[in-house]
Amino acid sequence: MKKRTAVVTGASSGIGREIAKILSDKGFDLVLCARREDKLEELKSMLKTNTEIVTADLSEKNQCFKLYEKTRNKNIAVLINCAGFGGFGQFSETDLEKELEMIDVNIKSLHILTKLYLKDFVQKDKGYILNVSSSAGLMPAGPYMSAYYATKAYVTSLTTAIAQELKNNDSNVYIGALCPGPVDTEFNDVAGVKFGMKSISAKECADYGIKMMFQRKTLIVPSITMKASVISQRFLPRGLMASITGEIQKRKEIVINKN
Ligand SMILES: NC(=O)c1ccc[n+]([C@@H]2O[C@H](COP(=O)([O-])OP(=O)(O)OC[C@H]3O[C@@H](n4cnc5c(N)ncnc54)[C@H](OP(=O)(O)O)[C@@H]3O)[C@@H](O)[C@H]2O)c1
Repeated sequence: MKKRTAVVTGASSGIGREIAKILSDKGFDLVLCARREDKLEELKSMLKTNTEIVTADLSEKNQCFKLYEKTRNKNIAVLINCAGFGGFGQFSETDLEKELEMIDVNIKSLHILTKLYLKDFVQKDKGYILNVSSSAGLMPAGPYMSAYYATKAYVTSLTTAIAQELKNNDSNVYIGALCPGPVDTEFNDVAGVKFGMKSISAKECADYGIKMMFQRKTLIVPSITMKASVISQRFLPRGLMASITGEIQKRKEIVINKN
């Protein structure tokens, strides 16, 4: 019997890297995708199962299709859409090109890959897709990280809708959204921020995410604090929540200015 294979995007660092290690420990062969080949090679050397590397810039549509084409003849059982990044600043001042790239990676690549692999999974009536969103994707808005929050709202909404369609069709295919709060990864350096809140480790986040994926949970929020804040915001008006979130985001700027 062919071994099961998992495709992990964003595997060169942070949450994706930890998820790849966990899936390898569970016996999955792997396809690792990101732009930094050296980081992927380093990870590959640590894994016990068969691992293929596909270097791709997922902000480019044709590279998303390339990843799919390279893997479609493998026995793909799991897709982890983890590649993504954020940015900080007032919308009137932030860089448009960077934001369009963010939309390409966080939204477009995830949308394309979800569509392509989901079609195959539905045909086989099996398979798992975990889309790495964010607790940002459960909030009404994120002043000072507006584009990032909006991309993650898309991921959460798309994923929840597909999950419902699959449920309505009695499908065995799983799709879920991992919605962490702050996680200690390279995210901050890339986004140019420092967390004003306590973070969890990438390993903690990945362990919980994969455990809940195999328990087929649709919205996965690691850490009690984030769960509490996500639940409590449901009872507050959207405007008030946007104001509170904006104050939390601004603290990140204060930390930057102090350093
Ligand atoms: N850290 C947090 O606090 C946090 C919280 C909630 C959600 N998340 C989400 O978790 C996911 C993983 O982020 P992380 O925290 O683990 O950050 P990270 O350490 O910066 O990892 C980001 C990953 O995305 C890949 N990536 C970025 N742009 C890419 C592109 N154009 N093409 C291909 N790959 C690309 C990076 O690889 P290369 O640079 O090698 O291409 C890297 O592997 C993201 O979707 C992020 O939004 C993070």
